[in-house]
Amino acid sequence: MAEKIAFGVDVGGSGIKGAPVNLDSGELIEDRFKIPTPQPATPDAVVAVIAELLDHFGLAQDVPVGVSFPGPILSGVVTWIANLDQSWVGVNLAEAVRQGTGRQATVINDADAAGYAEVAFGAAKDHPGTVAVMTLGTGIGVALITAGKLWPNAELGHIQINGRDAEKWAAASAKEREGLSYAKWARRLQRYFSEIDRLLWPDLIVVGGGISRKHDKFLPLLHLRPKIVPAALRNTAGIVGAAVLAWQDAASAQAAATPALRSDPATAD
Ligand code: BGC
Repeated sequence: MAEKIAFGVDVGGSGIKGAPVNLDSGELIEDRFKIPTPQPATPDAVVAVIAELLDHFGLAQDVPVGVSFPGPILSGVVTWIANLDQSWVGVNLAEAVRQGTGRQATVINDADAAGYAEVAFGAAKDHPGTVAVMTLGTGIGVALITAGKLWPNAELGHIQINGRDAEKWAAASAKEREGLSYAKWARRLQRYFSEIDRLLWPDLIVVGGGISRKHDKFLPLLHLRPKIVPAALRNTAGIVGAAVLAWQDAASAQAAATPALRSDPATAD
């Protein structure tokens, strides 16, 4: 059987990454390619980088493309943005990618993409209960999944802690910016995750983002009621989740375009 392939792009505050994904295994087919996020990260500049990524891999025209993006997205439109240029607000990302690359793309919040990937292939696979997939990077992203279904655009990286936007204080970027040790940063994470637990009571917390590669340095320092585990896909989850969704969209578009076969006209409605 031919390989099921889609291409995932993950737009982040420091880098824009892409790779083709095998949808049967959730593995990257080629090493991901990363281009630094342009500054300022305006829509035109970011879409130009997405086009560069697609060119780099010389992707066939029929490979579905998914883009994960660090802001809430409603019907393709970026409604709010914390860590890229403010001119993104109100931009239809799907349409901007279509104009800039000549391709249809499925677009999704980056934490939600990570959530899809962890449900399909990772630490949240077949979990019957409530899971919070949390990405720690430039910002804090949150995907809420209950019985395998996702509540999209949960912007819980922006809850207030001590009168501050939580992600400014507890994201991996805060650790780096302030030169915090893992022990000091873990105290902030303890506070943040405790607050998330108090509000949502998840059965499982899955921690992703680039820094989850170093999970043994901070997860053992946390003492929380729910189980807390590193993301299985580490920081490829955004790419994989966007690719999963792009494939699903392409499959449903194809099914809608294919007339149903009616072998028994007598019972056809
Ligand atoms: C954004 C979220 C995003 C998260 C991780 C936050 O600043 O508001 O939409 O998921 O960063 O990138």
